[in-house]
Amino acid sequence: MSGSSDVLARDSAAVDDEAIVLEILRANPADPDFVPHWQTFELEPAEGMTLFIALTELREADPSLQFDFVCRAGICGSCGMLINGRPGLACRTLVTDLPRPTRLAPLPGFALIGDLSVDTGRWMRAMSERLETWVQGPDIDRDPSLVEQPMEPETAEAIYELERCIECGCCVAACGTVQMREDFAAAVGLNKVARFRLDPRDTRDDAEFLELVGDDDGVFGCMSLLGCEDVCPKNLPLATQIAFLRRAMVKASL
Ligand code: SF4
Ligand code: F3S
Ligand code: FES
Repeated sequence: MSGSSDVLARDSAAVDDEAIVLEILRANPADPDFVPHWQTFELEPAEGMTLFIALTELREADPSLQFDFVCRAGICGSCGMLINGRPGLACRTLVTDLPRPTRLAPLPGFALIGDLSVDTGRWMRAMSERLETWVQGPDIDRDPSLVEQPMEPETAEAIYELERCIECGCCVAACGTVQMREDFAAAVGLNKVARFRLDPRDTRDDAEFLELVGDDDGVFGCMSLLGCEDVCPKNLPLATQIAFLRRAMVKASL
């Protein structure tokens, strides 16, 4: 692999004291001959350097390195990865806060594209279609006789709070139930259902939500492991929302 004076790849035993050492899991499912392995990279730290900046520098030396970024500001949810085994956003992680060496791996629970890049979009879309995560009610755009009613500010704020989810997939990767149940909605899905339950424009009742999440792939599959809330970069109250939803679904099932 090629290197430069400040971006090098070599054995961690040979690194200098100041350098950041990243061990990255290299994998390429598109190439059956590619053997997954850890590759060690060394680079000089700079003030305010995030993992996004570090990985971008490394990719200048090795253009084959795969990872995803769009916004670089914790908004798009593209840059989730395992950082020393913990799901997190690379663009919001300062390299100076990390131990040496730091291991980077792709988020589990999603189809691997290569190296640190996973297909969260396909997973999120399938979950969204299964749980019908969109407002269902009269179409006021098509029927001019219907007028959208103003929403109470407290309701709008509660919905806005749950809408802060950026679909990064960190809660999926941190959830033990996902490892056992392929179609488990995970905290991201259950949070979305909780959000639409709150929405006065959505005319579905709890019996209809029960049809969507009232099983072990939904709210009754959650074992309260709490990894989701621990890692959510938006600090969403996921455990509370899941508990509210579970109580409502138990009530609707009686
Ligand atoms: Fe990411 Fe949190 Fe949304 Fe899960 S609930 S996808 S961790 S922002
Ligand atoms: Fe999983 Fe969170 Fe429940 S980690 S088991 S969804 S509390
Ligand atoms: Fe958008 Fe990190 S690049 S959240």
